[in-house]
Amino acid sequence: MITLIGISGSLRRQSFNTALLRAAAGMMPQGATLQIADISAIPLYNADIESSEGIPPVVAQLKEQIAAANGLLLSTPEYNNAMSGVLKNTIDWLSRPATDIPAVFGGRAVAVMGASPGPFGTLLAQNAWLPVLRTLRTRPWFEGRLIVSRAGAVFSDSGDLVDEKTRGQLQQFVNGFVQFASEARTVTG
Ligand code: FNR
Repeated sequence: MITLIGISGSLRRQSFNTALLRAAAGMMPQGATLQIADISAIPLYNADIESSEGIPPVVAQLKEQIAAANGLLLSTPEYNNAMSGVLKNTIDWLSRPATDIPAVFGGRAVAVMGASPGPFGTLLAQNAWLPVLRTLRTRPWFEGRLIVSRAGAVFSDSGDLVDEKTRGQLQQFVNGFVQFASEARTVTG
């Protein structure tokens, strides 16, 4: 079984990015599964908390889930032409302590997609992830690209991805990334 962990960078109930991940989970090819992580309980990163209390259990659990998975799928909102703070905060926590970076992120297949109600569909947010993915020595997947613009028109009020063209693009993206993640090798140490 190929396992992907999906993280949406929005805590909003009607988040387009969470809806996009849910749609992806419903399109996984046979033999593959996408588990959507809940990051709502992850606190703001504070080095004092890390020193005094260690890694919060909710973060430690997600680190283990990612370390055991074939790939990580980020669904990123765009805030002020970059990624959302909650998603960056999550990745920052997941990168602690730095000695665990190789096990959690090293060689890990990572794909980034995103949805925005605007005309540019998270293009700049996706670009903003590139130095982060490089720093963490992930294995980013660049063959596919999914930029969902004018998101208000492609999702129903209940958060279903109803636009056929976008569904086709997402299916192609998911298939490509699953194939890549199934071939990816992770590194340790
Ligand atoms: C935005 N939004 C936004 N959209 C965009 O395409 N480019 C941008 O630079 C920004 N900047 C921005 C800043 C801040 C602070 C907010 C709150 C919003 C709009 C954003 O794409 C929209 O709120 C999405 O709906 C957020 O994603 P979710 O919550 O639907 O997943």
